[in-house]
Amino acid sequence: MPTRPYVIDEMISAKTIAAQIEDLAREIHDAYADTDKLIVVGLLRGSFVFIADVVRELDLPVEVDFLEASSYGDGTESSREVKIMKDLRGQIHGKDVLLVEDIVDTGITLKHVVGLLNARKPRKLKTIALLNKQARREVDITADWVGFEIPDEFVVGYGIDFAQRNRNLPYIGKVRFT
Ligand code: PRP
Repeated sequence: MPTRPYVIDEMISAKTIAAQIEDLAREIHDAYADTDKLIVVGLLRGSFVFIADVVRELDLPVEVDFLEASSYGDGTESSREVKIMKDLRGQIHGKDVLLVEDIVDTGITLKHVVGLLNARKPRKLKTIALLNKQARREVDITADWVGFEIPDEFVVGYGIDFAQRNRNLPYIGKVRFT
């Protein structure tokens, strides 16, 4: 439960997000045009809204799987320890995989999960993140596709939480403490 009162100011509208996903989907389509099956992996929990919109824009044979990782828990500071709470259901050896992440902040989560999945030897593994906070990066990792570069602001909505709240906002908002 957040301890201080706050309001949320809209930062990226639902319409702007949708338009950007359409553009990104075209690029993803071209990158995987030769695939007979693309396994789209959502990194829970934050990516659940984004992956739903991404897969519906992809005109490719797609399977969906999920992996749950957590490094923030209910707090706002990364523990720098990535806990895998739920693994994939399927095998990815020799398969085409797209890993879908909501936000790359320190990069610790994405780097850890990419390492984990690459160890399973997929044919091709690429990554997409809706948001990238480059200023906060602590490890060397960049998503192959990024929806929006954002400044170091506390953001919520479109799957992203503040102490588990506000994931259901249809837009990306900025938390302002009052
Ligand atoms: C958040 C977010 C990313 C990660 C990014 O997950 O969804 O996965 O942190 O931060 P990083 O780049 O500093 O590692 P969180 O651990 O809060 O779990 P959640 O997705 O269940 O909210």
